[in-house]
Amino acid sequence: MSAIRMDGKALSAKVRGQILAETEALKAQGVVPGLAVILVGDDPASQIYVRNKERACSECGFYSEKHVLPATASEQDLLDLIERLNANPKISGILCQLPLPEQIREDAVIAAIDPKKDVDAFHPVNVGKIMVGDFDFLPCTPAGVMELLDEYQIDPAGKRCVVVGRSNIVGKPMAMLLLHRHGTVTICHSRTHDLAGLCAQADILVAAVGKAGFITPEMVKPDAVVIDVGMNRNEEGKVCGDVDPAVLDKAAYMTPVPGGVGPMTITMLMRNTIKAARLQNNL
Ligand code: GUN
Repeated sequence: MSAIRMDGKALSAKVRGQILAETEALKAQGVVPGLAVILVGDDPASQIYVRNKERACSECGFYSEKHVLPATASEQDLLDLIERLNANPKISGILCQLPLPEQIREDAVIAAIDPKKDVDAFHPVNVGKIMVGDFDFLPCTPAGVMELLDEYQIDPAGKRCVVVGRSNIVGKPMAMLLLHRHGTVTICHSRTHDLAGLCAQADILVAAVGKAGFITPEMVKPDAVVIDVGMNRNEEGKVCGDVDPAVLDKAAYMTPVPGGVGPMTITMLMRNTIKAARLQNNL
């Protein structure tokens, strides 16, 4: 039996349609959601992500600005740009694409973004709000995963959820969102003993490791829900996830790469941007 494919592309198209309708309603009230995307340097993967974010903005009827700084830019150059964007009323949300060149401290940049414009939900104020369950913005990738679970009527309540990876962008907030929904959550990482054994107990397994084919069929419980957050390139340069495709024969549900979590992440960024526009205009 082959797992049901959780179609993030189709769900994204549906949600973006809803966002476009909401944008039209906001525009009728004189408010245009605006996103500023900042790219520092010329990392090819980041260039693709930024292009996809701009395209999504135009699909959703948003105003968008792209700011490209050279790889040699100083931290102060970036902080000055963020200060201008914080003060610009046309900009509802600011996204600085990570990773940044090594001369720039990521935490200083994240902290400089006005929390009301922090559509990534990376600012410590927003991270804290997520922790206590009283938030304005949800981090985009974990929020996209929750939307996919809801679409396929998979309820984490009471289930064993295993998140592999403990990054601030995905693993940690993913665990928190599953916990909010009453999952029993384990976070695994590179120091975890018997990682394969823990994964094999998961009803819902989320792989956010960054290594192609890391999750093999032996690590998956029969009929589990397997969410693949990985975005890797194999030897032929083809995009592939963290989950070995052979897992398709063992899982009940699985997200494809590409076309699963990726499009949902960008769609959740659009949702955060429209939310930011509303918050800033008391609508
Ligand atoms: N780099 C990889 N994923 C992300 C993301 O969700 N947001 C930002 N800003 N940079 C990223």
